[in-house]
Amino acid sequence: MSTHMEQDKPNRECLLDKTPQGTLGKPLSRSEGLAKVTGTAPYAAEYPIADCLEGVLVTAPFAKGTIDSIDKEGCLAMEGVIAVIDDERLTSRPAQGTAGEAPVQKPRQIDYFGQPFALVVAETFEQARHAAKHLEFTFTADDLSQVPFDPEAAESERQEETRQGDLAHAMSDAKHAVDARITTAGHASAAMEPHAAIAQWDGSNLSVHASLQMLNYNISELADALGMDEDNIRLVSRYVGGGFGSKLGISQECLAASLASMALEKPVRVVLSRQQVFQTIMRRSETTQRLRLAAGDDGALSGFGHEGLVSNLPEESFAEPILQSSQFLYGGQNRLLGLDVARVHRMTAGSVRAPGEAVGMPALEVAMDMLAEESGVDPVELRLRNIPDAHPVEGTPFSSHKLAECLQQAADAFGWDAGPRKPRQRREGEWWVGTGMASAARVHNISKAKARVTLKPDGTALVETDMTDIGTGTYTILGQLAGEMLGLPRDKVLVELGDTRFPRGSGSGGSWGASSVGSAVYVACQGLRRELASRAGVNEDDVSLKDGRIANGPSLIDLLDGKDLSEEGFYEPGDIDDDFVAAGFGAYFAQVRVNRFTGETRVDRMTGAFGFGRVLNEKTARSQCQGGMVWSIGVALTEALHFDPQDGHLVNCDLAEYHVPVNRDVPELDVIMVEERDPAASPIQAKGIGELGMCGGAAAIANAIYNASGARVMDFPMTPDRVL
Ligand code: MOS
Repeated sequence: MSTHMEQDKPNRECLLDKTPQGTLGKPLSRSEGLAKVTGTAPYAAEYPIADCLEGVLVTAPFAKGTIDSIDKEGCLAMEGVIAVIDDERLTSRPAQGTAGEAPVQKPRQIDYFGQPFALVVAETFEQARHAAKHLEFTFTADDLSQVPFDPEAAESERQEETRQGDLAHAMSDAKHAVDARITTAGHASAAMEPHAAIAQWDGSNLSVHASLQMLNYNISELADALGMDEDNIRLVSRYVGGGFGSKLGISQECLAASLASMALEKPVRVVLSRQQVFQTIMRRSETTQRLRLAAGDDGALSGFGHEGLVSNLPEESFAEPILQSSQFLYGGQNRLLGLDVARVHRMTAGSVRAPGEAVGMPALEVAMDMLAEESGVDPVELRLRNIPDAHPVEGTPFSSHKLAECLQQAADAFGWDAGPRKPRQRREGEWWVGTGMASAARVHNISKAKARVTLKPDGTALVETDMTDIGTGTYTILGQLAGEMLGLPRDKVLVELGDTRFPRGSGSGGSWGASSVGSAVYVACQGLRRELASRAGVNEDDVSLKDGRIANGPSLIDLLDGKDLSEEGFYEPGDIDDDFVAAGFGAYFAQVRVNRFTGETRVDRMTGAFGFGRVLNEKTARSQCQGGMVWSIGVALTEALHFDPQDGHLVNCDLAEYHVPVNRDVPELDVIMVEERDPAASPIQAKGIGELGMCGGAAAIANAIYNASGARVMDFPMTPDRVL
């Protein structure tokens, strides 16, 4: 069992625990929610910009080759057409978005079916769409029989490997061993708002309204792609209708709108169709994984193997990081973890909702269920027995670790029966009913971030950062944080986000948004408190702010003396954080029913317990957990990208054919938040939360399918044809 190394924790005090106001943590609704649901929050394509031309992208109807010529004249003769932009940078791929690297550019070269190569600009959207559809061009396609589309058949290279001890030996010596091959399907982010951008060029400066997650990086990506100085670019992204990874990097709509606006010296709007979003924006790689688990009589792991094959286009550095949490989740001294990348001509593979664990954890947790069965140890107990005291290879302690508590609390709430388990024990009419469980784990990411907080003479505060709110609640929690720190109610704090004119935040990605930019707001408020203390002539450690005044002292309004007081907070992860493994942990329990005749699976109920540091808003945090659980139903049962093996095109490129779980698929989702403080994770002691909810949940459903029906399906999603 874990000792959690409490004694090694950094001694980092947090002001949020010192004088709690009750603003932070409160289950407040999202402050922009009403504007969103009543249609008054302008999304990227909806900014009212006068005389805006409309651009529609033209995409390649073949998977590999070159575009040779474009019949601009013919297109320009069509009604309303203003221009055909064929700048060779239009064949850029989407940027990966988490490091500020420019997109891969290969002029006029097509590497995947559906890759954009030209933009038709017209007076109206309908005219542009019509002309784009009829644009004539010539191309040279490679011999498709020679183009690798199938990852299993393509060339691959090992990108990452961890070896310790001798896994093969541990496997042959083991009392109980599992060697399983498990596959997961490719996924689309499937955000509701399609990608859109409106670019305005004034001769020297470019302003782009777009739907983006990471303005802090997107500005450099766009600057690099255009060969411009980023000081001459402004990006605005105030409302984002979901990202899920698809808007981490700039994509072709931003680049195309910018190039067109600069060429035509007019505002240009480019909105991707739903099909274009699916065909051109990043996908999650499909995976083939091999899990090898070697255990003694008691189920304690002696060997742990997790290898996988994922895919991406040539020249892309990203590889679906399926091993992330496998590195430290369970013990086993003989270890082999390896990741291979196959080079295929499907669209760019990148980060999609919980990259890595979203598909790595389900495979691992199915293998753990197989080991539980093999060893006769209860699945919950098996996991409890294999929680390591520290990182099993590096020996690094965990910053905080709530797996055991989550397993126990969720098991209790769910009513888990720890007695002997056998499949096909309960039938209700034509349905087999069963239960299953799995652990959740997700690495905690954190990023540098800046935010400015200004106290106003009218007794309000203003928070400004270019951080985005992708529907997660950033506006709300930053207001709560600043309110908590400054002794102001939430409604006295105005939060302005999503504009590169503001200090650079962390962007929304990798579940790091709240803890990173929240820490920047915290640092800014610390500075303000210090200044207020000095103005009031009191010791800063004794400052207690409440109801707009220093307790038993002057009001903020008096201290400001009619002038703004502003402080920029900068947070950068430091050495202290590297001395610990920081991760979110949790557990899922599911009850499903499987139809005896059709193989259809319905999820009856699901319980999740999660530990992710401080809860900043009880309601938005719960929503994040529930959202993650919904996506884990998608991984388990419905979501899969299907590519045509002949020409490599994506077959199911809309929300009618790509099945995200809908209301009818989602039962009551019971969420338990196991609150903790994690001083190593961030100054505000919060960890990532958004993605944790989907890192393993699919296995709870898969294991329940097995328990219900006796079908040990090894391929996700577990569609009726596979379950039968
Ligand atoms: Mo996330 S896939 O880093 O938006």
